[in-house]
Amino acid sequence: MRLDKWLANSGIGSRKEVKKLLKSGAVTVNGKVIKDAKQHVHPQTDEVMLFDEPVEYREFIYLMMNKPAGVISATEDKRDETVVDLLDDMHKHFDPHPVGRLDKDTEGLLLLTNDGQLSHSLLSPKHHVPKTYFARVRGHVTEEDAAAFREGVTLDDGYHTKPGELIILSAGEESEIELTITEGKFHQVKRMFQAVGKEVLYLKRLSMGGLLLDEELELGEYREVTEEELALLRES
Ligand code: URA
Repeated sequence: MRLDKWLANSGIGSRKEVKKLLKSGAVTVNGKVIKDAKQHVHPQTDEVMLFDEPVEYREFIYLMMNKPAGVISATEDKRDETVVDLLDDMHKHFDPHPVGRLDKDTEGLLLLTNDGQLSHSLLSPKHHVPKTYFARVRGHVTEEDAAAFREGVTLDDGYHTKPGELIILSAGEESEIELTITEGKFHQVKRMFQAVGKEVLYLKRLSMGGLLLDEELELGEYREVTEEELALLRES
């Protein structure tokens, strides 16, 4: 791997900032000052130091985003802006991908990582990782709907969902609810409400397994997941 990638991956700064540090002679590899960003280094055998402090190699990145509406949960797209387009270069070059999909018009918690194993385990249908959504729904959501969701409902393609837990926050011409499901079928929340004759007007994901959306994050903002949060996610 290139030395500048190692340094940028370790969180020291962007590739541009790293280049400056290299130029200044602040970086040594196995005790020798190296100014060449392209120098090859090996995570297992080489010792990289910055101002005489060891720089640990970091392979994985875990980001929590408050996804805004209007961007798609993909790494690239010909037409639309993607969630990866919202990342700084410093995080982009880890090649993170979104863990699962939120619809273009859905907001809220989206995890991005380059840790394929964690991503696979969170998405595996075997693991039933719970995901909780807040929704504003056209129509009067009732306890009968909650009972139907507890039994599972039949979607437009004939699929019968696993049980969902519906909490009615307010009910009227428009209702506000929280729904927890353990699957991730295409448009699942919207189609579950369709199955009981209602329409989702606004949808936001609040949590995925043990990871809760940090409400301090503005739409489109993201931050690294903490060690504690990562441990909770792994337990999910
Ligand atoms: N269910 C939906 O209908 N849309 C989403 O984005 C997520 C879950």
